[in-house]
Amino acid sequence: MTEENILQLNQRLLDAIAAADWATYEELCDPELTAFEPEARGQRVEGLDFHRFYFDLGKPDGARHTTMVDPRVRMLGENAALVTCIRLVQAETPSGPTTQRAEETRVWLRRDGHWRHVHFHRSDSA
Ligand code: GLY
Repeated sequence: MTEENILQLNQRLLDAIAAADWATYEELCDPELTAFEPEARGQRVEGLDFHRFYFDLGKPDGARHTTMVDPRVRMLGENAALVTCIRLVQAETPSGPTTQRAEETRVWLRRDGHWRHVHFHRSDSA
């Protein structure tokens, strides 16, 4: 797996989040995913249930587009990779287009030949 392939996986994950596509998100994530994100108010979240809540709210009404700005991949041996980027999410809302920005770190691990997302940390949106 090349660094470019890891970035494609990361983009696929972010696109799944933007589209509320639970099947793809679940396929790409380890069941024991850990996360720090603003929604969890400083708590480390483990597993997928916390994230599923947001997918179950349904698909967003307006269009969304996610861009990884200045993405970097650092391979940690052959079976782990660290992705860092600024994540921009453009959204169509009733009051007009908006853009949210956050710093993200995501960790990917290969087990049994499959790459899975195992941990992420996202800053507050700005
Ligand atoms: N809140 C889900 C994710 O960012 O992976």
